[in-house]
Amino acid sequence: MSDIAVIGAGAAGLMAAIFAARGGAQVVALDGAKKLGAKIVISGGGRCNVTHDIVHPSDFNGSRNAIAKILRTFDVPATIAFFATLGVTLKREEGGKLFPATDKARTVLDALLRAAEGVETRTDYKVTKVERGFVINDELHARKVILASGGRSVPKTGSDGSGYALATSLGHSVTPTFPALVPLVLPNEHPLTTLSGLSVDAELAVRSPSGKVVHRERGSMLFTHFGISGPVVLDISRHWIANQPLTLTASLLPGETFESLDAMLLDSTRAVRQRLPSRLWEMLAPKDTTREERRRLIRDLLELPLPIVRDRGFEYAEVTAGGVPLSEIDTATMESRVCPGLYLCGEILDVDGKIGGYNFQWAWASGRLAGMSASDT
Ligand code: FDA
Repeated sequence: MSDIAVIGAGAAGLMAAIFAARGGAQVVALDGAKKLGAKIVISGGGRCNVTHDIVHPSDFNGSRNAIAKILRTFDVPATIAFFATLGVTLKREEGGKLFPATDKARTVLDALLRAAEGVETRTDYKVTKVERGFVINDELHARKVILASGGRSVPKTGSDGSGYALATSLGHSVTPTFPALVPLVLPNEHPLTTLSGLSVDAELAVRSPSGKVVHRERGSMLFTHFGISGPVVLDISRHWIANQPLTLTASLLPGETFESLDAMLLDSTRAVRQRLPSRLWEMLAPKDTTREERRRLIRDLLELPLPIVRDRGFEYAEVTAGGVPLSEIDTATMESRVCPGLYLCGEILDVDGKIGGYNFQWAWASGRLAGMSASDT
């Protein structure tokens, strides 16, 4: 009989286990993967973008008031101080992302594993059944359970979505899940795929059939052999997916208007040409000097159609949108409102953040709160 069993020892589960053990509980952490922390190790291109220097509830999709309340319990300065006590110095990069000074995600994982030394960890232990009370896989007993099994993204890391069935078996609902922070695919051999490797500053817009903008994001867009990627594409992907069958367009000259470009182009194409990579300009360049051709160019520059056929799926998604609704959780403690003694934290909940360290901040804050509350008998 353990005091607390943590199911899933990723970012949120490790945090929960560390703080539950610090609270004096006897904790066992169970993880289906052979090795812990695969997702932390691959995160941030192998450098782990631990958090962002400014984290606001509006950086997340989900129930913002509840998210705000949970984030307040462990803000960015507290996160920086926590990692400092574990020996991990964080450095700020341009744009506000915080990374370990070593530039190695492994530093973050090793520090968390060291901090979790008082926790009994069992790897290669997939949980397939939890009965109220609690009995896990018909053999382990725990007074309380913290469910931190993550979402469905990059399932080979161990986060295969199996935790949702555990949540529903204990009485929770799960809102539809879909990939977020995911690259988008253009039709086979679409001309834009020939621009593979090119990166541009763009403003993307999800539009209704009448052209009305439903969602907008600005940032760097990368053309690839399959379609588009880069921060702005990852950020807007969940809004395109959630609003099917709406369309996606790109302004390749953010800040410009039809009028400003018309005036610029009437004179000469030079000013516009200089602001675009040459391969992109060659693709869009006007065929002649007619008014129609100038107007066509302006439309392409401001509302370039991106006829996305699909997203790249959970194998390539950084996070999962949807999950257990926060309304089913007591946001003061992370305890389930439908199954006393059960706590949930991290990506299994219906919260997904922008790119930039926000998703880990959610995992650290919600995991810590769940661990502290569960050990608080
Ligand atoms: P996480 O997925 O980390 O952990 C869940 C754990 O539960 C896994 O170890 C899994 O094996 C285990 N598990 C699942 N089901 C189980 C079962 N039935 N029984 C036992 N164990 C089970 N975010 C960010 O802020 N900065 C970044 O730099 C990045 N970079 C990044 C890169 C890539 C490629 C990806 C895929 C994701 C990111 N993210 C990110 C997102 C971030 O990694 C993610 O939001 C958190 O890891 C979520 O933490 P959780 O602990 O909730 O789930």
